[in-house]
Amino acid sequence: MFLSSAKCASFKYNLFPQFLQLPGYKFTGGLRPGTESFIFIDHTIIMTEKVNIEQKLSLFSDYWNPRIAGELNGQHVKLVKFKGEFVWHKHDDEDELFYVLKGSFKMEFRDKTVVLNENEFLIVPRGVEHKPVAEEEVAIMLFEPATTLNTGDAESDLTKTVLHRI
Ligand code: NI
Repeated sequence: MFLSSAKCASFKYNLFPQFLQLPGYKFTGGLRPGTESFIFIDHTIIMTEKVNIEQKLSLFSDYWNPRIAGELNGQHVKLVKFKGEFVWHKHDDEDELFYVLKGSFKMEFRDKTVVLNENEFLIVPRGVEHKPVAEEEVAIMLFEPATTLNTGDAESDLTKTVLHRI
């Protein structure tokens, strides 16, 4: 999926049929006459198709490289796999939610460590330094503003400025 909110704004309807051919994407709802296959809200296409987490996780195997699996209200729903140690960082303007789908990992803070197991989530408030550490592979769902950079204020080789949609 390669649509971004910005791109959607400049597309004319007659360009959209190509998107209907994207495997796995069917946009339903529609707010404008003749465009029943789309919902336009603030230039974002909202999917009314369900997302299967297992299937999405099977599409990638690299670590520390979040994929965008959904978008709503300016927030991204991201799927990511961790293994090893990340870098210390903080996000000055964004709170981050980490929900463990499979496996477990430790979130290190400067004053404590929180162990997160499957079906548990943690919210890291903006401005708080944190570092995820995963001894074994763990699959996570992230929920955070679309502006959130994975390494926050600590640019490194692990920084991902362009995220793929799955
Ligand atoms: Ni972070």
